Amino acid sequence: MKFNGKTIIVTGGASGIGKACAQFFAARGGKVIIADKQLEAAQGVAEEIVGSSALHLDISDEHQVKQAVDAAERDGPVDALVNCAGILQRTLPPGELSMKEWDLVMHVDLRGTYLCCAVLGPLMAARGRGTIVNIASVAGMRSAPLHSYGPAKAAVIHLTECLAAEWGPQGVRVNAVSPGFTLTPALEKGIASKNLSPHDMVAGSAIGRLVQPEEIAAAVAFLTSDLASGITGINLPVDLGYLVATPWSSYGGLRRSADSGNVR
Ligand SMILES: NC(=O)c1ccc[n+]([C@@H]2O[C@H](COP(=O)([O-])OP(=O)(O)OC[C@H]3O[C@@H](n4cnc5c(N)ncnc54)[C@H](O)[C@@H]3O)[C@@H](O)[C@H]2O)c1
Repeated sequence: MKFNGKTIIVTGGASGIGKACAQFFAARGGKVIIADKQLEAAQGVAEEIVGSSALHLDISDEHQVKQAVDAAERDGPVDALVNCAGILQRTLPPGELSMKEWDLVMHVDLRGTYLCCAVLGPLMAARGRGTIVNIASVAGMRSAPLHSYGPAKAAVIHLTECLAAEWGPQGVRVNAVSPGFTLTPALEKGIASKNLSPHDMVAGSAIGRLVQPEEIAAAVAFLTSDLASGITGINLPVDLGYLVATPWSSYGGLRRSADSGNVR
């Protein structure tokens, strides 16, 4: 895969999956713009990655999104957008999950993702080319005790389909990638706060480990690249077989080999 001469905005590129995407594109010739709420962290990543630059952006703020896209397009058209910026949610029952937290997750994960698409997509459509990849989640594909995050990510998957149909006629492709449990600073925070158990997350996947951010980046890059020129409107899970493995718990669990460390 080559991204020579391509300008790619990666929101949330200062950390985790976004950072891995930025590294993946830059290593293959892409000019990456790391757009993140944490400007200092984004600048730090941009210093590490040759061929990248940093931009301050809160994706949930319409004015900031417009300003960021204007700034990014000053040096030429943006070829691709990867919407990685997002926040996770605590696993609270509805009676304990405040509407403030519920709204914030929706505001960032759904509204923010839509805003970035809605500002850049029409420019891409007018040029007759461009690709967008939205990071959703397996939590948007199955139920989980995440009553704001799950519905927000389900809506991102649906939004991806709507926008793929909207801009397909103008040559813009829009796809989603749904990560399983991926070892990032956000996940580590969840583990440290005892919201998530590493043992349970590993046991839930067929392959029996956590996803590495680079594995998400590879799928994102494929969907962004011309290799995926025939693909639009899809949601690609990168979950180590979490979606296919979890129903097996009703039948006593997966048949792990003795040396996999998880025997039944
Ligand atoms: N880690 C996982 O297991 C996992 C699983 C499924 C989906 N995801 C999704 O992947 C994406 C990246 O998650 P991660 O685990 O790498 O998290 P992370 O916290 O490591 O990175 C997220 C980045 O997004 C930025 N960000 C947050 N809110 C922002 C905003 N309003 N505007 C701009 N930037 C903002 C943060 O500053 C941070 O740099 C998220 O959309 C998340 O929902 C993660």
